Amino acid sequence: MHPTEILSQEHRAIEVRLNDLEVRIRALEPAAIFPRAFFDEALDFFRHFADGCHHAKEENLLFPLLKERGVPEQGGPIGVMLAEHDEGRAYLKAVRDNLDAAERGSATAREAVCASAEAYIDLLRRHIYKEDHILFRMAQMVLQPDDVAELQKQFAAVEVPERFQEFAAIRTQTV
Ligand SMILES: [Fe+2]
Ligand SMILES: [Fe+2]
Repeated sequence: MHPTEILSQEHRAIEVRLNDLEVRIRALEPAAIFPRAFFDEALDFFRHFADGCHHAKEENLLFPLLKERGVPEQGGPIGVMLAEHDEGRAYLKAVRDNLDAAERGSATAREAVCASAEAYIDLLRRHIYKEDHILFRMAQMVLQPDDVAELQKQFAAVEVPERFQEFAAIRTQTV
């Protein structure tokens, strides 16, 4: 499987969790008990799988190789993708920073959690669309067969925590 297809398959898993998060936020009644455990679990997935495994493959392995093959970073798609990864991290931090107060009943903190999570969902959906439709197509044109083989090997070696194995099961399919 081409490395960009592996990443696109991970995008599908990330989108499922983005949809879950969106549904949960929309169903939140102001008077209901704050679902702390749900947010903790969602944050764990987005911080340690979407960011820790998936974005790490892009930032540490795919993007540097694309730069070597002539795709510009500054003023180009790689720079935009890196900036969006950072933006996403800032939204996740804002969610995390407000969880304790939201759990204690602060309406302001609950709103901050929801607003940051919604901004994250919107950002990541648009980000994924750009990667799937622009950057990855570019990658398929510039990567050489040796690059593809090397990336497949490197992707397979990326450590995925046990609890996320199901989302990255496709990483072992290198054909
Ligand atoms: Fe990305
Ligand atoms: Fe991605």
